[in-house]
Amino acid sequence: MPPEISFDPYSSLYSEAAQHMRSSEIRDLMSTAGRKDIVPFSGGLPSIEGLPKTEVISVMDSVLKNGLSEALQYGETEGRYPLKSALCKLMAREGLKGEPEHMLITTGSQQALDLISRILINPGDAIVTEGPTYVGALCAFTAAAPRVTTIPVDEEGMRVDLLEESLDRLQDTPPKFIYVIPNFHNPAGVTLSQSRRGKLVNIAEERDLLIIEDNPYGLLRFEGNPIEPITARSRKNVVYLGTLSKVVSPGIRVGWVLAPPPIIERLATLKQSADLCSPNLSQMFAEEYINRGLVEKNMENLKPVYRSRRDVMLSSLEEHLPSGCTWTKPRGGLFIWVTLPPYIDTRKMLPLAIEEKVSYVPGSAFFPDESGSNCMRLNFSYPAEEQIATGVKRLGKVIKKEINLYHSLGLDRE
Ligand SMILES: Cc1ncc(COP(=O)(O)O)c(C=O)c1O
Repeated sequence: MPPEISFDPYSSLYSEAAQHMRSSEIRDLMSTAGRKDIVPFSGGLPSIEGLPKTEVISVMDSVLKNGLSEALQYGETEGRYPLKSALCKLMAREGLKGEPEHMLITTGSQQALDLISRILINPGDAIVTEGPTYVGALCAFTAAAPRVTTIPVDEEGMRVDLLEESLDRLQDTPPKFIYVIPNFHNPAGVTLSQSRRGKLVNIAEERDLLIIEDNPYGLLRFEGNPIEPITARSRKNVVYLGTLSKVVSPGIRVGWVLAPPPIIERLATLKQSADLCSPNLSQMFAEEYINRGLVEKNMENLKPVYRSRRDVMLSSLEEHLPSGCTWTKPRGGLFIWVTLPPYIDTRKMLPLAIEEKVSYVPGSAFFPDESGSNCMRLNFSYPAEEQIATGVKRLGKVIKKEINLYHSLGLDRE
């Protein structure tokens, strides 16, 4: 963690973009990550215990033995062609046909979000996101100072009916893009239904708008049938972001963009000044890992683990959370979104939870305007089942205490 700074003698030097940047609360919460006594519901960490270790070592060994000089050299800014071909096979598993020529390898999909923000947003431009949305996307976008319109989500994902109304209001200044996380949403855990995907594409095509489809979790489905990505329905109006962070490892930092060639070209030019290229070593590892069929193997190991962790979290929430609280029931991914009575402020409640040795991310972190203050994101992929049961029990205790306090002060009726 960076040290806390109370006075900054360099503040007059910073660019406007740097001044618009918000530090992610998740980064701030990392200070509790080293504490073994706290049940960590706040992280977004995939479980890497399930990775096939012998194979991981064997793949790395083979990369170093057979391609050492290439692995340790600079690479092409656009990324390695054989990796892009391998990633096309992964996308095909979800029903999306991609072409290596229309792809850019990025250093995690977080880099793609940053590059997109910089090639598309001028200060004051309108953009549309879901509310809540991924905090890292908000950080990347708000650095460019856009006006963000948020569209609520329900169990079927973005309320596309409300999107139309918002777009009508933005008629004079149409948004630069609509950012959507279609599968097992971070933080809401919900999935955009088939029919809403169709409607969203129709809207984008009719109004000639760009959709950014961010899909880190699509392969992490442990129930129900996969739904075709939005990009499979419209290549002209959609930019697709993928990442290996949740299905292989976040440490290798391999992500990608599939987009119309002019957009890929702009992103690549900007990537050149950002980091020249993503590390060849990671790319070659990823390439061989995918080609040996290990993503599928890892998924088969992970899914039952995540499914039972989710089940423990859902049944513990049922047992320990008081009435008036609701939560989503994800069919894949890593997160559950909990909504408490409207008068509770989960950011204010967080220190009490930490005292009780359980952490979460306050809901307001996932909105540009600090709404969602009575909500929280819980991660179920990282803590073990016993920890989840203990953590939710502790959380229930904190919430009940908070509700009783408001009740005794008569503030629950405001
Ligand atoms: C929706 C979403 N997009 C992008 C990312 C960034 O992933 P990475 O940079 O590790 O590929 C995350 C990470 O949690 C995410 O949840």
